[in-house]
Amino acid sequence: MTEQTVKLTTPGGDFKYPLLPGSVGPDVIDIRNLYGQTGEFTYDPGFTSTAACQSAITYIDGDQGILLHRGYPIDQLAEQSSFMEVAFLLLHGDLPKKKELDEFTYTISRHTMVHEQLATFYRGFRRDAHPMAIMCGVVGALSSFYHDSTDITDPNQRLIASHRLIAKMPTLAAMAYKYSIGQPFLFPQNDLSYTGNFLKMTFGVPAEPYVVNPVIENALDKIFILHADHEQNASTSTVRLAGSSGANPFACIAAGIACLWGPAHGGANEAALNMLREIGDVKNIPAYIARAKDKDDPFRLMGFGHRVYKNFDPRAKVMKATADAVLKELGKTDPVLDVAKELEHIALNDAYFIDKKLYPNVDFYSGVILNAIGFPTEMFTALFALARTVGWVAQWNEMISDPEQKIGRPRQLYVGATQRDYTPVGKR
Ligand code: SDX
Repeated sequence: MTEQTVKLTTPGGDFKYPLLPGSVGPDVIDIRNLYGQTGEFTYDPGFTSTAACQSAITYIDGDQGILLHRGYPIDQLAEQSSFMEVAFLLLHGDLPKKKELDEFTYTISRHTMVHEQLATFYRGFRRDAHPMAIMCGVVGALSSFYHDSTDITDPNQRLIASHRLIAKMPTLAAMAYKYSIGQPFLFPQNDLSYTGNFLKMTFGVPAEPYVVNPVIENALDKIFILHADHEQNASTSTVRLAGSSGANPFACIAAGIACLWGPAHGGANEAALNMLREIGDVKNIPAYIARAKDKDDPFRLMGFGHRVYKNFDPRAKVMKATADAVLKELGKTDPVLDVAKELEHIALNDAYFIDKKLYPNVDFYSGVILNAIGFPTEMFTALFALARTVGWVAQWNEMISDPEQKIGRPRQLYVGATQRDYTPVGKR
């Protein structure tokens, strides 16, 4: 097939650039030689129109509300798969055979413990430290314990580091929670499932046996699947950029955790539940809708809107159904869920939200479920980071193996002072 090109007319003349097709989705204009040929940069703050890499891991169609992981639709994976199986799929590209899944699960379970000296890092934090502050610190600190898996040029070391990160995130997150409530850390119990092990380390106590509730285990495993990966979002792009300099994988994932913490990104799940609690009653919704629409008010509906989804977020649909099911199965009610549903209904019939294509995203309903399971809101983003580590690690491996990858180094439109001479302080 002959290569398609696009023509760019600039003050310096006309230039042609290749149009590269993907397997599905928008083509890309390959402009990597544009500056060298035209002496001009492109300008795209927030990267709204920029493809930063090639990837075969996750495909999103924001208009159709489609999310595929290695080609498999997110709703099918959420309903039929497990987080361990999705982790294998994201890392290795295909669904595992039973033997492969068993071996992968066994390997991950044997990396769940952390070095005993790492536990002392927690004692340096205040008890009321935000769990994400702790996660940024201790995940970065893993670099100092695993020098045998920081050589990124060695595929075996990359794989061991990947397994260690996926396996230890639940242990580190559970320890952050235990530390905040003054309870002792629990060791992993490897005969439990990945998610069941996390529940035991989080909610179990040494004084009595802990029995994993299968309803909660299944719901949380589904929530982990829904958060596993999401194309080139801000935190994944952070991991890729950090990795492009050759930084070790533990440092790269710590960078991703820091980026995810922001309320515009992974921090939205905590902010969304706090917002729903602040609204408190459906009668207060109109006032908050008015604030969200007021350009002079910085308030935004947390859990609403998305850079890519300009239709529904398929994850939010699964999350909403899961919230109903978990509350029913646990015999719980939560007035916040009623507020969330009414808020969604009102917003989706309001011209402002319709015109700006703002729909509930993955963070809008997740907090209702996590709260029903017993997690404090401060832990919500740490749970998002736990699940997204699988995607970050898969994307980091893909980036390292990409023959086209080089250190990421964007340019700028300079609008500052042009050259001027220094004047001594006495003459200013
Ligand atoms: C996640 O990228 C990913 O894939 C992220 C994620 C993942 O899995 O990795 O999906 C996870 O981060 C989900 C998003 C969680 N964040 C929130 O729920 C925070 C609230 N939402 C927003 O702040 C916002 O919608 C963003 C950050 C999610 C998207 O911002 P964009 O794409 O930069 O869009 P924008 O800020 O330019 O908004 C477009 C317009 C603006 O109005 P105008 O300036 O054009 O007049 O819509 C308005 C915004 O003011 N708008 C909102 C709004 N979100 C956007 N108005 C009210 N409430 C909102 N929530």
